[in-house]
Amino acid sequence: MSADRNTPVLEVRDLCVRFMTNDGPVYAVNDVAFQLGRGQTLGIVGESGSGKSQTMLAMMGLLARNGAATGQVLHHGRNLLGLPAAELNAVRGDRIAMIFQDPMTSLNPYLTVERQMTEVLELHRGLGRREARVRAIRALDDVKIPDAKRRIDFYPHEFSGGMRQRVMIAMALLCEPEVLIADEPTTALDATVQAQIVQLLRELQREHGTAIVMITHDLGVVAGLCDDVLVMYGGRVMEHASADDIFHRPSHPYTRGLLAALPRLDAGAETLRSIPGNPPNMNALPPGCPFSARCRFVEERCVSTMPMLQHLSPGGATLRACHRGVAELDAMEVSGG
Ligand SMILES: Nc1ncnc2c1ncn2[C@@H]1O[C@H](COP(=O)(O)OP(=O)(O)OP(=O)(O)O)[C@@H](O)[C@H]1O
Ligand SMILES: [Mg+2]
Repeated sequence: MSADRNTPVLEVRDLCVRFMTNDGPVYAVNDVAFQLGRGQTLGIVGESGSGKSQTMLAMMGLLARNGAATGQVLHHGRNLLGLPAAELNAVRGDRIAMIFQDPMTSLNPYLTVERQMTEVLELHRGLGRREARVRAIRALDDVKIPDAKRRIDFYPHEFSGGMRQRVMIAMALLCEPEVLIADEPTTALDATVQAQIVQLLRELQREHGTAIVMITHDLGVVAGLCDDVLVMYGGRVMEHASADDIFHRPSHPYTRGLLAALPRLDAGAETLRSIPGNPPNMNALPPGCPFSARCRFVEERCVSTMPMLQHLSPGGATLRACHRGVAELDAMEVSGG
C-alpha cells in the first residue's frame, strides 16, 4: 500500500442517519466526521443509543430498511455511500472488515469455523480449499486460539464466549483489511478476557498497520488502544480529541461525566459517580444540546440553541460542542457547581 500514514484510509464527512418511524423521524446520527490514517485507531464512545452502531452500519451500507444515510464515506477517496451492492460487497469483509458485538450475528451456527473461514478466502482471495485451510489455521494461531489445527473443525457453539470473539476477530482479519470496525467487541466478556482482546488488537495493528474504529460505551477500553476519540451523545459529536486530551484535559461536561464514571484502580468503588439521568428520548430531543437535560452546567441557551462543534482553540486539534467555556466549567467544578 503506497498510502502513507497521513493519507486517510477512511474519511467520513457530514454523516447523517435518519430513521422513519410511526412517531416521526429519528435523527440517530448527525454530522459525524472523522479521518482515519493507516495504523491509526479511533474510539467512538457514548452511552447506549448515542448513535455509535448506526454510524458504523451507515458507513457499511447496513442500515435497517427504514433508515437512510447522507454525507460521504470515502475509502481512498471513493464514496461508499450509495455504491451498488456488488461493489460494496467487494470492499466489505476484504479491505474493510467488521466485528459485531454478538459473534453469533456473524458466525453461522450450522457451519464449522473451518468452512466459514475458508469460504471467505475462496471468495475474496481465490484460494483453493487446502491453501485456505492453512491460512485460516494461521489466523486462529494469530489470535491465540490454542490447538487451532484441531479446533478449526469445531462449530461456533463449541467455543467459549471469549474464544468465539477471537474467532470473529480472526475472521475479520483473514484478508488483512486496511480498516477494522469493531462494535463493542469486548462488552460481553469479563475484564480479563477484555484486556486480552484489546492487547491482541494492538499487536495485530502493530504487525499489519490496520486502522481501527473501536466502538464502545466504556472509556476504559479506549485508554490503551486509541489515538483519537469521538465522544457521542444523542446522535451528535460532543467532543473529538486525542485520547491523551480526552483523559487528561476533557473539555466537554459529558466527557467529564464519563470519566468520573470510570472505575479506577487507585480509587475505591465509592468514588464511582455515574451521570445522573437517562439517555435522551431520540423522538423528543430538545432544540438545543441533547445533553442539556443532564448537564450540571446547563444554562438557558443550552436548552434552546444547539452548540456548534468548534475548535477549542485556534489551530488546536480538539473539537467540542458546548456553549460553556472550559475556564467557566473549571471554575464551576471548583466551586462545586
Ligand atoms: N430501525 C430503527 N428505527 C428507528 N430508530 C432506530 C432504528 N435503529 C436504531 N434506531 C435508533 O437510533 C439511535 C442510535 O442507535 P445506535 O444503535 O447507534 O446506538 P448505540 O450508540 O450503538 O447504543 P448501544 O451502546 O446500546 O449499542 C437509538 O436511539 C435507536 O433507538
Ligand atoms: Mg451499538
